[in-house]
Amino acid sequence: MALLGVNIDHIATLREARKGIEPEPVYAASIAEQNGADQITIHLREDRRHIQDRDLQLLRQTIQTKFNLEMAPTIEMVKIASEIKPDTVTLVPEKREELTTEGGLNLTENHRDVISSLKKAGIEVSVFIEPILKMIQVAKDLGADTVEIHTGRYANLENDGDIQAEVDKIYKAAILTKKLGMRAVAGHGLNYHNTQKLVELDIFEEFNIGHSIISRAVFSGLAEAILTMKLIVE
Ligand code: PXP
Repeated sequence: MALLGVNIDHIATLREARKGIEPEPVYAASIAEQNGADQITIHLREDRRHIQDRDLQLLRQTIQTKFNLEMAPTIEMVKIASEIKPDTVTLVPEKREELTTEGGLNLTENHRDVISSLKKAGIEVSVFIEPILKMIQVAKDLGADTVEIHTGRYANLENDGDIQAEVDKIYKAAILTKKLGMRAVAGHGLNYHNTQKLVELDIFEEFNIGHSIISRAVFSGLAEAILTMKLIVE
C-alpha cells in the first residue's frame, strides 16, 4: 500500500490570480487530510508565484499528517526550511521561466552542504531526480534519505512500447534506490489514468500528485478527487 502526497500549489495559484484571500490553501490541506491524504506538499518558489511565506507558517501549524516542502537548493530556502522544519524537504530544480518543474535535479558535489544542513535541522531530505542509475548513486553518496523519481517523461509518452521502456527504467531506478537504503517515491504528471501502472510495480512507498487532483476537484470537489486517487494508489 502506497501513501498519497497531495500537492496543493494550484489552490494558491488560483488565489494569486486575484491576489486575494480565496481559495485558502489551509482549507485545502485540511479537506485533503480528512479524505485520506497522507501528506501535503507545497513548493515555495523563489518568485512566490503561488505559495507564499504565510502559507508555510500556517500550514506548519495546521497540517496533521506529513508536511513536504519542495524547494530549490538555495541558501535562502535552506534558511526558511530550517526555521519552519517541514517533515521532508524535496530538493527540485527551479527555473524562473518554467510553467512547472521541468526535469530532475542534476545532483553534484555542490548539493552536499544543502543536504547536510537540512539533515542537521532534523528534516528528511528527498531529491527529485530522473530515473538514471548513476544519479541515484550520487543521491546516496550525498546523503539523501529519499529519492523522488521524476515521472514526467513517462506521463508524456503515448506509444505503448516507449511507455513500457520508461516503466522498466523507473522500476530499475526504484530498485537501486531501495537497495541503497533510501525511500523510493514517485511524482509529476501522474493522473487518474497513468498512476495505476506505477502502483502495480509495488515498489513505491508514496506518490506525490497535484495538477490532476486539483483539476478534477474543480468539477467533482476536492474530497471526491482525493478519495478516488487514494483508491488508485492503495
Ligand atoms: N513531485 C514534485 C517534486 C514536483 O515538483 C511536482 C510538481 O510541483 C509534483 C510531484 C506534482 O506534479 P503534478 O502537479 O504534475 O502532479
